[in-house]
Amino acid sequence: MTQTEEQAVSAQDTPLVPIEKIVSLCKRRGFVYPNSEIYGGVSGIYDFGPLGVELRNNIRRFWWWSMVQTNDNVVGIEGSIITHPRVWEASGHVENFVDRLVDCKNCKRRFRVDHLPEENIRQNKCPVCGGELTEPRKFNLMMETYIGVVEGERMKTYLRGEACQNIYLDYDNVLKSSRVQIPFGICQIGKAFRNEVTPGNFLFRQREFEQWDLQFFVHPSEMQQWFDYWKERRFEWYKGIITHKDRLRFRAHGADELAHYAKQAFDIEYQSILGWQEWEGIHWRQDWDLSRHSQYSGQDLSYTDPETKERYIPWIVETSGGVDRTFLNLLLDAYEEEPPTGKDKEGRTVLHLNPVLAPVKVAVLPLQKNKEELVTTAKELHHKLRRLMVSQYDEVSNIGRRYRRQDEIGTPFCVTIDFTTLEDQTVTVRERDSMSQIRLHLNEVPAYLLERVRWDYTV
Ligand code: GAP
Repeated sequence: MTQTEEQAVSAQDTPLVPIEKIVSLCKRRGFVYPNSEIYGGVSGIYDFGPLGVELRNNIRRFWWWSMVQTNDNVVGIEGSIITHPRVWEASGHVENFVDRLVDCKNCKRRFRVDHLPEENIRQNKCPVCGGELTEPRKFNLMMETYIGVVEGERMKTYLRGEACQNIYLDYDNVLKSSRVQIPFGICQIGKAFRNEVTPGNFLFRQREFEQWDLQFFVHPSEMQQWFDYWKERRFEWYKGIITHKDRLRFRAHGADELAHYAKQAFDIEYQSILGWQEWEGIHWRQDWDLSRHSQYSGQDLSYTDPETKERYIPWIVETSGGVDRTFLNLLLDAYEEEPPTGKDKEGRTVLHLNPVLAPVKVAVLPLQKNKEELVTTAKELHHKLRRLMVSQYDEVSNIGRRYRRQDEIGTPFCVTIDFTTLEDQTVTVRERDSMSQIRLHLNEVPAYLLERVRWDYTV
């Protein structure tokens, strides 16, 4: 097998989904559109359509619920995208947030040095055509912007290159304004911006993207214990939202990748057609961030233990992942083209999304659109359900085609109103993955569905 063929098969011999299939589904069904498409688009920047925004909101809300709302020792903030420029000097981004790039003198392709195989770096050879490579050049990834309108008084600053910096900036305010004590965590979901020199693979590497971070503040003596705790919790969280559990693993950072303050770091990786790739990083940040911000701002960010009166700079466990990578990985994980079977003679494309995250929870379908009683009953049920969850009413084309439309966007349940409904008030509830059908009384439908699409279901 060639490397590409090997990559196209996962650990359990399940075919991996080509990214083009996801790109096409996303555009066709309104999940993701290229940004500014009518002007030719901007590389590495995307917009989310009607279904995309529902899926994205569900992903975000579910993370927030699991990380903030169900942990007594974790609180949330929402910081700004623009901060004082000194923040990025203190964080090291102005000096060190760079990609090293080489160009092929022959085919003119450009590569990130850290993405090149060892062999090619050693021989200074292009991995595509074998041509000679240029000397590496450094590019800073920070996106610049300016505050103020008067020329000469404008202050240059940056769109944040990582969202977590706000948490260090607000750490002292949170401590003073909330009833939290170490050990405790602060969470945030927010946009980050990087002038990625090689954006690509759809949502995987973008220039504008969204991160979710937990920064957990601990006493140095408890660092290892909390690091291990969050590392396992985050792994289980991702495992809980995917179908192919064998496509998730930890990768320990090698000694040459670790920051000088980090004793260890792990990536949670997902295996897709792109290979094994980082989904979230679990980082040992020690006292680096708070010490640097203390030093650069002149503010004392140390913590005094209320009982022992010990004074120290807290150490930090960071878990930092991406909303967009989660969005992409979930689609890659959920997508399946099923061949024709006894149950579905035409075959179907289905998204096996976790019902908790699916953009539409239920579709209400009258068997025929020209039978007034069917339509009225279906619309009444839809109006009742849409107050509880995202419900779609659909009466266009035959029932099989309508099921397939919903399967393709991952709707876990379809409720069909048929002629028996008019006699005994029962409806057919069809489940997406098994395509099994049961009959329920109309009054039972809301509770039945709610039970299956609630936040704490399955995970
Ligand atoms: N505060 C630590 C930090 O920013 P990172 O590994 O650079 O660490 C964390 O980013 C996560 O953000 C990654 O695991 C990934 O999910 C997401 N991410 C990073 N760069 C990205 C990009 N260019 N496009 C989409 N997601 C990205």
